[in-house]
Amino acid sequence: MIQKIKQLIRPYFINYIAREIPLQWTQKKESTQLVQWFGSAPSIKPPVSKFCTLIEKRAIITNAQGEKPLWEGYQGATKTTRSSNQVRTQPSMGNLFTHLVTLKKPQYAVEFGTAFGISGMYFLAGMEQVKQGQLLTFDPNDVWANLAKDNLSKISQRYQLTIGTFEENIEKVLPSGASIDLAFIDAIHTREFVMPQLEIVLKYSKSGTIIIFDDINFSQNMRDCWNDVAKDSRFSATVSCGDRVGVVEVK
Ligand SMILES: C[S@@+](CC[C@H](N)C(=O)[O-])C[C@H]1O[C@@H](n2cnc3c(N)ncnc32)[C@H](O)[C@@H]1O
Repeated sequence: MIQKIKQLIRPYFINYIAREIPLQWTQKKESTQLVQWFGSAPSIKPPVSKFCTLIEKRAIITNAQGEKPLWEGYQGATKTTRSSNQVRTQPSMGNLFTHLVTLKKPQYAVEFGTAFGISGMYFLAGMEQVKQGQLLTFDPNDVWANLAKDNLSKISQRYQLTIGTFEENIEKVLPSGASIDLAFIDAIHTREFVMPQLEIVLKYSKSGTIIIFDDINFSQNMRDCWNDVAKDSRFSATVSCGDRVGVVEVK
Protein backbone atom coordinates (compact mmCIF):
# COMPACT_ATOMS: atom_id res chain seq x y z
CA MET A 1 0.00 0.00 0.00
CA ILE A 2 2.74 2.49 1.04
CA GLN A 3 4.71 1.43 -2.05
CA LYS A 4 1.68 2.21 -4.25
CA ILE A 5 1.20 5.69 -2.70
CA LYS A 6 4.93 6.42 -3.10
CA GLN A 7 4.71 5.41 -6.78
CA LEU A 8 1.68 7.64 -7.38
CA ILE A 9 3.19 10.79 -5.87
CA ARG A 10 6.73 10.24 -7.21
CA PRO A 11 6.33 12.20 -10.48
CA TYR A 12 5.29 15.32 -8.50
CA PHE A 13 8.58 15.28 -6.57
CA ILE A 14 10.79 14.70 -9.55
CA ASN A 15 13.34 17.32 -8.45
CA TYR A 16 14.20 15.19 -5.44
CA ILE A 17 15.22 12.27 -7.62
CA ALA A 18 17.78 14.31 -9.58
CA ARG A 19 21.06 12.67 -8.61
CA GLU A 20 24.74 13.42 -8.89
CA ILE A 21 26.14 10.89 -11.36
CA PRO A 22 29.81 9.99 -10.72
CA LEU A 23 32.09 10.14 -13.77
CA GLN A 24 35.06 7.87 -14.40
CA TRP A 25 37.19 8.62 -17.45
CA THR A 26 39.35 6.11 -19.32
CA GLN A 27 40.25 8.34 -22.29
CA LYS A 28 39.98 12.10 -21.92
CA LYS A 29 41.21 14.26 -24.79
CA GLU A 30 40.65 17.87 -23.69
CA SER A 31 39.36 19.11 -27.07
CA THR A 32 36.44 16.64 -27.22
CA GLN A 33 32.78 17.56 -26.81
CA LEU A 34 32.38 15.13 -23.90
CA VAL A 35 35.20 16.77 -21.93
CA GLN A 36 33.86 20.26 -22.72
CA TRP A 37 30.34 19.25 -21.64
CA PHE A 38 31.23 17.28 -18.50
CA GLY A 39 34.20 19.42 -17.39
CA SER A 40 36.67 18.32 -14.77
CA ALA A 41 34.22 17.70 -11.89
CA PRO A 42 34.08 14.14 -10.55
CA SER A 43 30.31 13.98 -11.13
CA ILE A 44 27.50 15.55 -13.14
CA LYS A 45 23.99 16.51 -12.01
CA PRO A 46 21.97 16.86 -15.21
CA PRO A 47 19.11 19.39 -15.18
CA VAL A 48 15.64 17.92 -14.67
CA SER A 49 13.85 18.12 -18.01
CA LYS A 50 10.50 19.91 -18.10
CA PHE A 51 9.12 16.66 -19.63
CA CYS A 52 10.28 14.52 -16.71
CA THR A 53 7.02 14.59 -14.74
CA LEU A 54 5.02 13.62 -17.82
CA ILE A 55 7.51 10.84 -18.68
CA GLU A 56 7.36 9.42 -15.14
CA LYS A 57 3.54 9.49 -15.17
CA ARG A 58 3.59 7.55 -18.47
CA ALA A 59 6.09 5.13 -16.89
CA ILE A 60 3.67 4.42 -14.02
CA ILE A 61 0.75 3.82 -16.39
CA THR A 62 2.93 1.51 -18.51
CA ASN A 63 4.24 -0.48 -15.56
CA ALA A 64 0.67 -0.96 -14.32
CA GLN A 65 0.03 -3.04 -17.46
CA GLY A 66 2.14 -5.75 -15.79
CA GLU A 67 4.65 -8.19 -17.19
CA LYS A 68 4.67 -8.86 -20.95
CA PRO A 69 6.45 -11.61 -22.89
CA LEU A 70 10.13 -11.18 -23.79
CA TRP A 71 11.19 -11.24 -27.43
CA GLU A 72 11.98 -14.79 -28.61
CA GLY A 73 15.60 -13.76 -29.32
CA TYR A 74 16.34 -14.04 -25.57
CA GLN A 75 17.48 -17.66 -25.88
CA GLY A 76 17.64 -19.57 -22.63
CA ALA A 77 16.04 -16.85 -20.44
CA THR A 78 14.63 -18.60 -17.38
CA LYS A 79 12.00 -15.90 -16.82
CA THR A 80 10.13 -15.14 -20.04
CA THR A 81 8.16 -12.02 -19.05
CA ARG A 82 9.16 -8.53 -17.84
CA SER A 83 7.43 -5.35 -16.70
CA SER A 84 8.52 -1.90 -17.81
CA ASN A 85 10.10 -1.10 -14.43
CA GLN A 86 12.27 -4.21 -14.70
CA VAL A 87 14.00 -3.02 -17.88
CA ARG A 88 13.68 0.78 -17.98
CA THR A 89 16.18 3.63 -17.71
CA GLN A 90 15.92 5.44 -14.35
CA PRO A 91 14.95 9.17 -14.21
CA SER A 92 18.37 10.50 -13.21
CA MET A 93 20.00 8.76 -16.19
CA GLY A 94 17.05 9.69 -18.40
CA ASN A 95 17.70 13.35 -17.59
CA LEU A 96 21.35 12.85 -18.57
CA PHE A 97 20.15 11.47 -21.95
CA THR A 98 17.88 14.50 -22.44
CA HIS A 99 20.79 16.78 -21.49
CA LEU A 100 23.16 15.05 -23.95
CA VAL A 101 20.62 15.53 -26.76
CA THR A 102 20.29 19.25 -25.97
CA LEU A 103 24.10 19.56 -26.11
CA LYS A 104 24.76 17.37 -29.16
CA LYS A 105 21.63 18.41 -31.11
CA PRO A 106 21.72 15.25 -33.25
CA GLN A 107 20.08 15.23 -36.63
CA TYR A 108 19.74 11.43 -36.27
CA ALA A 109 19.86 9.53 -32.98
CA VAL A 110 19.37 5.76 -32.93
CA GLU A 111 18.18 3.68 -30.01
CA PHE A 112 17.96 -0.08 -29.63
CA GLY A 113 15.99 -1.49 -28.00
CA THR A 114 12.97 0.67 -27.49
CA ALA A 115 11.34 -1.71 -24.97
CA PHE A 116 8.37 0.17 -23.43
CA GLY A 117 9.63 3.56 -24.63
CA ILE A 118 10.95 5.02 -21.38
CA SER A 119 14.50 5.90 -22.52
CA GLY A 120 13.06 6.95 -25.88
CA MET A 121 10.82 9.51 -24.14
CA TYR A 122 13.89 11.03 -22.48
CA PHE A 123 15.74 11.28 -25.82
CA LEU A 124 12.65 12.83 -27.43
CA ALA A 125 12.37 15.33 -24.57
CA GLY A 126 15.80 16.67 -25.59
CA MET A 127 14.76 16.88 -29.24
CA GLU A 128 11.59 18.78 -28.33
CA GLN A 129 13.62 21.17 -26.17
CA VAL A 130 15.99 22.05 -29.02
CA LYS A 131 13.26 21.66 -31.67
CA GLN A 132 15.37 19.46 -33.90
CA GLY A 133 16.37 15.88 -34.56
CA GLN A 134 14.82 12.51 -35.28
CA LEU A 135 14.95 9.42 -33.07
CA LEU A 136 15.19 6.14 -35.01
CA THR A 137 14.26 3.50 -32.46
CA PHE A 138 14.19 -0.29 -32.98
CA ASP A 139 12.70 -3.26 -31.15
CA PRO A 140 11.62 -6.67 -32.46
CA ASN A 141 9.12 -7.15 -29.59
CA ASP A 142 5.83 -5.98 -31.13
CA VAL A 143 3.88 -6.16 -27.85
CA TRP A 144 6.35 -3.90 -26.02
CA ALA A 145 6.81 -1.65 -29.08
CA ASN A 146 3.09 -0.97 -29.33
CA LEU A 147 3.04 0.25 -25.73
CA ALA A 148 6.17 2.30 -26.49
CA LYS A 149 4.45 3.99 -29.44
CA ASP A 150 1.76 5.43 -27.14
CA ASN A 151 4.45 6.75 -24.79
CA LEU A 152 6.72 8.27 -27.45
CA SER A 153 3.77 10.01 -29.13
CA LYS A 154 2.92 11.79 -25.87
CA ILE A 155 6.31 13.56 -25.97
CA SER A 156 6.96 14.25 -29.65
CA GLN A 157 6.38 13.12 -33.21
CA ARG A 158 10.13 13.33 -33.91
CA TYR A 159 10.59 9.56 -34.00
CA GLN A 160 10.37 6.53 -36.22
CA LEU A 161 9.74 3.24 -34.45
CA THR A 162 10.78 0.12 -36.35
CA ILE A 163 9.43 -3.22 -35.16
CA GLY A 164 12.47 -5.35 -35.90
CA THR A 165 16.12 -5.57 -34.96
CA PHE A 166 18.56 -2.69 -35.40
CA GLU A 167 20.96 -4.91 -37.37
CA GLU A 168 18.36 -5.93 -39.95
CA ASN A 169 16.79 -2.51 -40.39
CA ILE A 170 19.25 0.36 -39.94
CA GLU A 171 20.28 0.36 -43.59
CA LYS A 172 16.62 0.73 -44.70
CA VAL A 173 15.67 3.33 -42.09
CA LEU A 174 18.63 5.74 -42.02
CA PRO A 175 18.35 7.99 -45.11
CA SER A 176 21.09 7.29 -47.63
CA GLY A 177 24.17 9.41 -47.01
CA ALA A 178 23.05 10.38 -43.47
CA SER A 179 25.14 9.62 -40.38
CA ILE A 180 24.28 8.59 -36.86
CA ASP A 181 25.08 11.52 -34.54
CA LEU A 182 24.12 9.81 -31.29
CA ALA A 183 23.45 6.11 -30.53
CA PHE A 184 22.10 4.27 -27.51
CA ILE A 185 22.99 0.55 -27.37
CA ASP A 186 20.57 -1.08 -24.92
CA ALA A 187 19.57 -4.47 -26.32
CA ILE A 188 20.99 -7.88 -25.28
CA HIS A 189 23.76 -7.17 -22.80
CA THR A 190 26.54 -9.53 -23.86
CA ARG A 191 29.78 -8.88 -25.75
CA GLU A 192 28.64 -11.30 -28.49
CA PHE A 193 25.75 -8.95 -29.35
CA VAL A 194 27.16 -5.57 -28.33
CA MET A 195 30.47 -5.69 -30.27
CA PRO A 196 28.93 -6.46 -33.71
CA GLN A 197 26.22 -3.85 -33.03
CA LEU A 198 28.92 -1.30 -32.18
CA GLU A 199 30.67 -2.04 -35.50
CA ILE A 200 27.42 -1.32 -37.38
CA VAL A 201 26.93 1.93 -35.44
CA LEU A 202 30.54 2.90 -36.28
CA LYS A 203 29.95 2.19 -39.98
CA TYR A 204 27.31 4.95 -39.98
CA SER A 205 29.13 7.30 -37.57
CA LYS A 206 31.45 10.25 -38.10
CA SER A 207 33.95 12.16 -36.00
CA GLY A 208 32.13 13.47 -32.93
CA THR A 209 29.37 10.83 -32.89
CA ILE A 210 28.35 10.02 -29.30
CA ILE A 211 27.64 6.38 -28.41
CA ILE A 212 25.97 5.41 -25.13
CA PHE A 213 26.11 1.85 -23.73
CA ASP A 214 23.65 0.65 -21.11
CA ASP A 215 24.21 -2.00 -18.43
CA ILE A 216 28.02 -1.97 -18.58
CA ASN A 217 28.07 -3.79 -15.20
CA PHE A 218 25.34 -6.29 -16.06
CA SER A 219 27.77 -9.24 -15.84
CA GLN A 220 31.52 -9.97 -15.97
CA ASN A 221 31.09 -10.43 -19.72
CA MET A 222 29.66 -6.88 -20.04
CA ARG A 223 32.32 -5.40 -17.71
CA ASP A 224 35.05 -6.91 -19.92
CA CYS A 225 33.24 -5.65 -23.00
CA TRP A 226 33.03 -2.07 -21.64
CA ASN A 227 36.69 -2.16 -20.49
CA ASP A 228 37.74 -3.00 -24.07
CA VAL A 229 35.46 -0.33 -25.57
CA ALA A 230 36.73 2.28 -23.09
CA LYS A 231 40.34 1.63 -24.22
CA ASP A 232 39.55 1.45 -27.96
CA SER A 233 41.74 3.88 -29.90
CA ARG A 234 38.88 4.74 -32.28
CA PHE A 235 37.46 6.90 -29.47
CA SER A 236 38.85 10.21 -28.22
CA ALA A 237 36.92 10.26 -24.94
CA THR A 238 35.36 7.42 -22.95
CA VAL A 239 33.63 7.82 -19.61
CA SER A 240 31.42 5.74 -17.35
CA CYS A 241 28.48 7.60 -15.80
CA GLY A 242 27.47 5.97 -12.54
CA ASP A 243 27.76 2.20 -12.50
CA ARG A 244 25.42 1.52 -15.37
CA VAL A 245 26.15 3.66 -18.42
CA GLY A 246 29.23 4.19 -20.61
CA VAL A 247 29.58 7.05 -23.09
CA VAL A 248 32.18 7.40 -25.87
CA GLU A 249 33.00 9.98 -28.52
CA VAL A 250 34.19 8.85 -31.95
CA LYS A 251 37.64 10.25 -32.99
C1 LIG B 1 16.79 -3.47 -21.57
S1 LIG B 1 15.54 -3.36 -22.74
C2 LIG B 1 15.62 -1.69 -23.29
C3 LIG B 1 15.12 -0.70 -22.27
C4 LIG B 1 14.84 0.70 -22.80
N1 LIG B 1 15.93 1.19 -23.62
C5 LIG B 1 14.58 1.66 -21.67
O1 LIG B 1 15.55 2.09 -21.04
O2 LIG B 1 13.42 1.97 -21.39
C6 LIG B 1 16.18 -4.24 -24.10
C7 LIG B 1 15.28 -4.26 -25.34
O3 LIG B 1 16.08 -4.56 -26.47
C8 LIG B 1 15.30 -5.26 -27.40
N2 LIG B 1 16.26 -5.90 -28.33
C9 LIG B 1 17.00 -7.02 -28.15
N3 LIG B 1 17.78 -7.23 -29.23
C10 LIG B 1 17.55 -6.21 -30.10
C11 LIG B 1 18.07 -5.87 -31.39
N4 LIG B 1 18.99 -6.61 -31.98
N5 LIG B 1 17.60 -4.73 -32.00
C12 LIG B 1 16.66 -3.96 -31.37
N6 LIG B 1 16.14 -4.25 -30.16
C13 LIG B 1 16.59 -5.36 -29.52
C14 LIG B 1 14.47 -6.21 -26.53
O4 LIG B 1 13.35 -6.68 -27.19
C15 LIG B 1 14.15 -5.28 -25.34
O5 LIG B 1 12.93 -4.64 -25.56
